[in-house]
Amino acid sequence: MAKKIPRVDLPDGLRLDTLAVREGLPRTPWGENSEALFLTSSFVQPDAATAAARFANEEEAFIYSRFTNPTVTMMERRLAAMEGTEACIATSSGMSAILLLVMGLLKAGDHIICSHSVFGSTIMLLGREFAKFGVETTFVSQTDVAEWRRALKPNTRLLFAESPTNPLTEVCDIRALAEIAKAAGAWLAVDNCFCSPALQKPVEYGADIIIHSGTKYLDGQGRVIAGAICCSEQLVNEKFMPVMRSAGMSLSPFNAWVVLKGLETLSIRMRAQSENALKMATWLEMQPSVDRVYYPGLPSHPQHELAMAQQSGCGGAVLSFIVNGQASGGPTLARKNAFHVIDSTRICSITANLGDTKTTITHPASTSHGRLTEEQRQAAGITQGMIRLAVGLDDVEDLKADLARGLTSI
Ligand SMILES: Cc1ncc(COP(=O)(O)O)c(C=O)c1O
Repeated sequence: MAKKIPRVDLPDGLRLDTLAVREGLPRTPWGENSEALFLTSSFVQPDAATAAARFANEEEAFIYSRFTNPTVTMMERRLAAMEGTEACIATSSGMSAILLLVMGLLKAGDHIICSHSVFGSTIMLLGREFAKFGVETTFVSQTDVAEWRRALKPNTRLLFAESPTNPLTEVCDIRALAEIAKAAGAWLAVDNCFCSPALQKPVEYGADIIIHSGTKYLDGQGRVIAGAICCSEQLVNEKFMPVMRSAGMSLSPFNAWVVLKGLETLSIRMRAQSENALKMATWLEMQPSVDRVYYPGLPSHPQHELAMAQQSGCGGAVLSFIVNGQASGGPTLARKNAFHVIDSTRICSITANLGDTKTTITHPASTSHGRLTEEQRQAAGITQGMIRLAVGLDDVEDLKADLARGLTSI
């Protein structure tokens, strides 16, 4: 939408940090320096004939906030510019971005290939909800490119990846998946929630579509639920906007404004939180009561080199680790120990959200991935002893002390 609605007058070739604070819409006649919040459901039309032309898409203008609102457009333009895509369509949540993706692109009889280690609700939405409507999904290994190729069918229309994954931080080779998708005439969509465009731009590796949960790093301060799809102008106009207009998984202008302001500090937050996460991961790897640490920034991570190349040399701010217990007492003891470490913290927020400036801690097997069957969890590698830490801006020494309380008393 809004191709003809004027853009901010900016020089060409600006870099991400400038776009993050400048891209959007031109100022209103009042000359505000901070972006305006247009908290309105609808827009008054000058006369009936103009209203008719606008509703018929013959003239571009803001009409009704289910599908057009200036604050939302500002957020969409800013995020698209940062991701390096032509366009973006904002949605009410990250999950509704994936809902819109599938509703907009696919029909009954179509086939999706998806990594089996993506976010739990994505597995439920693709694997269960869309199966009801005749869209079939094959789940494959995140890291074995040959498995993605083998899963192709004549009706495969979409490859869906998330990198790094939640919570195992497995990294997929976006370029290799893009080549497979292209050769098969399918789209590649990448959920870029963990890295954000500050660290990784999947379009540079050939992805067609970027999915965001704006709830995470884009807002970055745990305030709103939001989502977005970044892609070509053509896909937005022809595939996604018609569904948005009819189905209304729209982002509220207020939430769009919060994300818009969050984008301004995205880059410095991502780098600072990644630095903290690397320090925490390095420290956790040395703790005797920790069996294993999953963090792409560590040389011990199986896709460390790929991650460093794809993610601007940063590991991101999310890590997971496994506490002792599985070997001696099976899943029951592993879960008890994980709960003990979580419950012994006094700084970390016990919550399943991530991407906040406040460090959050969670037990994926019973929260974000609790609705999966044990078989699906095992396929995703999520064991009962696993804890996910989404590192914020808290002081790292305070965080170490917070975790050491539980780790040293298992
Ligand atoms: C990787 C990933 N994608 C999508 C989502 C869904 O986003 P939302 O909670 O905004 O619907 C999440 C939520 O945790 C996530 O971690």
